[in-house]
Amino acid sequence: MLDTKTIFLTGSGGILGSTYVRRMLDGGARVIASELPGARYDGLADTFGSHENFALYKMDVSDEEQVAATITEVLADGHKPNVFFNNASITGEMLMKDGAEFPDFSNTTLESWNKTLSVNLTGPFLVAREIDRQVIGKWDLKLINIASMYALRAPHHDIYDGMPFKNFSAYQATKAGVHGLTLWLASYWRKKATVNTLAPGAVFNGHSEEFQKRISELIMQDRMAQPDEIADVALFLSSDAANHMTGQFINVDGGYNAW
Ligand SMILES: NC(=O)c1ccc[n+]([C@@H]2O[C@H](COP(=O)([O-])OP(=O)(O)OC[C@H]3O[C@@H](n4cnc5c(N)ncnc54)[C@H](O)[C@@H]3O)[C@@H](O)[C@H]2O)c1
Repeated sequence: MLDTKTIFLTGSGGILGSTYVRRMLDGGARVIASELPGARYDGLADTFGSHENFALYKMDVSDEEQVAATITEVLADGHKPNVFFNNASITGEMLMKDGAEFPDFSNTTLESWNKTLSVNLTGPFLVAREIDRQVIGKWDLKLINIASMYALRAPHHDIYDGMPFKNFSAYQATKAGVHGLTLWLASYWRKKATVNTLAPGAVFNGHSEEFQKRISELIMQDRMAQPDEIADVALFLSSDAANHMTGQFINVDGGYNAW
């Protein structure tokens, strides 16, 4: 299904990123993964490093010079990515570093807001601009920007009552913003690339029983998603089966956004 695809992916070492990598390799794609240096990068190298269709680069999506240098290096290494995923992202969980309590909205710092924008929104812009500078027009392209079920629809703040984490304002703002970038680019590159937004729902990742129960009540299918269920749609969007789709916002959320 993906044997003509070379897929460049940011934030490849996370729960969804690493699932995409595995499924894309299984589907016959070449995968050009990128990740921040650290444990997740090392985990990718250990798990997939020996696969003949896998390459791995260190890249911070919020760093203008690194994004330009990495894409330059990828191309110089002879890779010709024809699918790009803007998948890297941070959530409010970074606010709980070193045991800190999750702040309420009135105590949200400008620093945390700006940091979230720099990764979740500026990152996709930097990757897209580099595509425009170095790749667009050379071969057909697909760009998939990853948003969230919390992009175009509000969270229910009540489900976070008593939980160690809350829903973070900057996260929603960036995920809505990334779809704005999708629409803008789909129109700008209209004959040269398709650009779509994939919006995962709530993916199970060891959440407490109580949190699972609260969020599941808001989802038509009454359950959280498994990473492979999001990957199924990521693979479809990467494939030629999605050639006539562009500028779309695709929910994979068990019906959260439809209720
Ligand atoms: N898991 C969910 O429930 C869920 C739901 C909706 C949307 N999403 C979206 O799906 C995508 C993947 O989510 P995930 O659950 O795998 O998250 P994750 O936190 O497990 O993975 C995100 C990855 O991005 C990387 N990253 C963070 N900052 C970076 C930077 N500056 N440069 C490069 N990489 C960086 C992290 O190291 C991490 O490996 C994200 O865009 C996320 O917002 C996830």
